[in-house]
Amino acid sequence: MLIANMSPRTTGKTTDTGWLSHALLEDEEGYEVEGYDADHSKQFWSWSQPGKGNFSFPVHLKASAKFHQEVVPPTGKRIAMVDCGHTENHIFIADSLLRIADLVILHMSPTAADWERIVEPETAKPFKDILASSAPLRATGRKPETWVLLNRTVANASSTGYYREEMIKEGYNVFTTVIPRSERFGDSMGGPVEGAAKTAFGALVTEMKKRGLLPVGDQEVRR
Ligand SMILES: Nc1ncnc2c1ncn2[C@@H]1O[C@H](COP(=O)(O)OP(=O)(O)OP(=O)(O)O)[C@@H](O)[C@H]1O
Ligand SMILES: [Mg+2]
Repeated sequence: MLIANMSPRTTGKTTDTGWLSHALLEDEEGYEVEGYDADHSKQFWSWSQPGKGNFSFPVHLKASAKFHQEVVPPTGKRIAMVDCGHTENHIFIADSLLRIADLVILHMSPTAADWERIVEPETAKPFKDILASSAPLRATGRKPETWVLLNRTVANASSTGYYREEMIKEGYNVFTTVIPRSERFGDSMGGPVEGAAKTAFGALVTEMKKRGLLPVGDQEVRR
């Protein structure tokens, strides 16, 4: 399956993608990960390199508007993790990915600023409309399954619950698991990722499995 990690602007995607990839690898289900950097900034790729994160899985450079023609989503327990650029600036790459994504994770902080850029941007297309316009170009004829991951949350802050409800009102699914604001995650890019399964990203993998969003046993997830 192919998981597209997306957002209109800088929202913690690459950090989440790096950690979630490792939490998948560490999971008992035996997932294999293949990374794709579909962002011109190349930070997922750069993080993976020897002397930096030294990831045990490859990260391919693929900031391409022909992504859907050039990449075949893997089957079984193999998961393509794609880090996308800003949909605000690189809509053609986003459109290409959305043709073949089995799951979209929309990364955001529970803030007015992120909410506005996703739901009511002044000068761009709302993310919901980007998703909707992918439907006729997909094999299923339906937009891809999409889940919001709240990140950089602050313990006990009312913002987490508030923006969860706001996104649900907009028609989004929102993961119960949230990624807390922390120095460990915030300063992790460029170094090795260890013990991901024991962090909130491990809890996220468990939630994804429970919700049928990841292959478990012999069961394929294709959408
Ligand atoms: N859980 C976290 N806690 C604290 N800081 C975080 C966390 N996750 C990400 N950050 C910080 O937020 C900023 C943006 O993160 P990141 O670069 O991953 O976002 P991005 O969406 O990939 O951005 P871009 O689209 O511009 O590449 C960085 O300074 C990063 O260190
Ligand atoms: Mg990034």
